[in-house]
Amino acid sequence: MDIQVNKSEPLVPIEASATQRKAQPSTPKVKVSENATSANASASIKIEVKNTDFFYGTKQALYNVSLPVYECQVTALIGPSGCGKSTFLRTLNRMNDLIPNTRTVGEAVLDGENIYDKRTDVVLLRQRIGMVFQRPNPFPKSIFENIAYGLRVQGKSKKEIEVAVEQSLRRAAIWDEVKDRMSTSALGLSGGQQQRLCIARALAVQPEVLLMDEPCSALDPIATLKIEELILELVEDYTIIIVTHNMQQAARVSQFTGFFLNGKLIEHAPTVDLFERPKKKETEDYISGRFG
Ligand SMILES: Nc1ncnc2c1ncn2[C@@H]1O[C@H](COP(=O)(O)OP(=O)(O)O)[C@@H](O)[C@H]1O
Ligand SMILES: [Mg+2]
Repeated sequence: MDIQVNKSEPLVPIEASATQRKAQPSTPKVKVSENATSANASASIKIEVKNTDFFYGTKQALYNVSLPVYECQVTALIGPSGCGKSTFLRTLNRMNDLIPNTRTVGEAVLDGENIYDKRTDVVLLRQRIGMVFQRPNPFPKSIFENIAYGLRVQGKSKKEIEVAVEQSLRRAAIWDEVKDRMSTSALGLSGGQQQRLCIARALAVQPEVLLMDEPCSALDPIATLKIEELILELVEDYTIIIVTHNMQQAARVSQFTGFFLNGKLIEHAPTVDLFERPKKKETEDYISGRFG
């Protein structure tokens, strides 16, 4: 069956639970595994964010945020609930455009072009910068169709689609679990499988950057571990930005960490430095569980 696709439709579905916010647990001092998190000092910059302000109507949600996003490294974004992490993530693939009366000021330079520029082709941008949400949100279609969808939008042939579907599912470490049930509904998969399917769907259109907004917060510990292992594999080929309310997770998977508070980026540093030698008092207070 061919599905009708609308070229102007965003490839990325909107997060189902964007309005549900959770309290942050206070977490004891974080131990960083230097092995998993050694930052590559010579990595090049994939996206250079400069002086970004963001407004929901008249309410300002981001203040003068600047940070380098290093290529083929994991950048983790931490901070208490409501501090602007998701808002910031959505500026990078222009998902905030879908919310009326919003405004972004500043620059996020990807290959010499400002992502925020009116002339940016957002359909192409969202292929290059894919997104995975807090709650797995597969389409109510077969496993195969979930991955094939974006490829049809790109006008790929039947054969190309078949190859890419398998490749993406393998890359997202879920192929073995689904290869015998490709035509069954994606909604029949477990939460962790659904999330890996959503990662496969994001990978299918060959993005360069993956944005992950608390991708494990709806998952059990085993499924969380699988996603973390997957992130450590994917970072060899993709630039990853992950929002997490779990500081231990940031310490396990990321090379760089940014700490947000009240819409401001308080500190951005190699993960080891941020957790073991924070420069700002606010960072120190947050990572030692004094607020949040
Ligand atoms: N669609 C929206 N409309 C208006 N305000 C919003 C919207 N989404 C988020 N906000 C507000 O922007 C601020 C940052 O929210 P958010 O980026 O979701 O924070 P975080 O992801 O760190 O929890 C909060 O004050 C939140 O209430
Ligand atoms: Mg959020």
